Amino acid sequence: MPQKPYIDQLVMSAAARQLDKFRSILCKYEERGILNSEMLAICSLCEELGVSAIVESGRARGYSTGILAKYFKDRPLRIISIDWEKAKWFIGADDKFAKESLAPYKNVELLYGNSVKLMPALVKKLKNERVAILMDGPKGKEAVDLAKKILDKYKNVVVAFVHDMDKRTPHRAQMEETFNNIFFTDSGEYLKLHSELDADCFKHDEAEAAKSLAGQIEREIYEPTLAIVFPDDHKFEAQKNRIFP
Ligand SMILES: C[S@@+](CC[C@H](N)C(=O)[O-])C[C@H]1O[C@@H](n2cnc3c(N)ncnc32)[C@H](O)[C@@H]1O
Repeated sequence: MPQKPYIDQLVMSAAARQLDKFRSILCKYEERGILNSEMLAICSLCEELGVSAIVESGRARGYSTGILAKYFKDRPLRIISIDWEKAKWFIGADDKFAKESLAPYKNVELLYGNSVKLMPALVKKLKNERVAILMDGPKGKEAVDLAKKILDKYKNVVVAFVHDMDKRTPHRAQMEETFNNIFFTDSGEYLKLHSELDADCFKHDEAEAAKSLAGQIEREIYEPTLAIVFPDDHKFEAQKNRIFP
């Protein structure tokens, strides 16, 4: 499905406006973390959509959580981050690292449990907030189904981010079939402007570095890729002045 121009405009213009602020909070990348170019889209949209609570599922070493904590440290925005000791990719040492490095941030709450159950319950409780959901575990079909369930039921969710949606995954097609208002961060224009932020993310692993950046852009596959979903009733029109100043 071709991306809709007003969605492209919303994502591209938010990222462009918040780029300097985002650069100023960047720190050392942690393994398995969401890429910087993807975190730029998350931070800038949460900022510009007036999000007041972010519910994250899948924290691992807490790279994404830490970026959110730093970016929003001067704003009254709650960051609620879930991980699960019984999850397929749970690593105890990662969890310890995340707990220690996130301890100074008073805007972050760390929870444990299966997000498939916890996330809808939390979103329900946050009924008076403007909520963003971020899924980086569970993945694939489980993540798409959970995002769909939450977006359909809870109108306080203003944007959903689902990680690991590169063009080769079968869930990419599921994502495109399931949602109307969707943007993928492997869009050519977005990568042209922001993939340079990812150089640090690939540095720790030479094999990754070889597959990444220029190589990936050439093959038109950019791993891992973030999907951004706006609810069907999103008021793109109301944001016209921000989108097309
Ligand atoms: C790729 S890592 C997250 C990386 C993190 N977002 C970052 O940027 O640093 C995936 C995490 O998802 C967690 N996870 C997987 N399934 C889950 C579930 N159903 N509920 C909660 N956490 C889950 C795993 O334990 C793992 O720590």
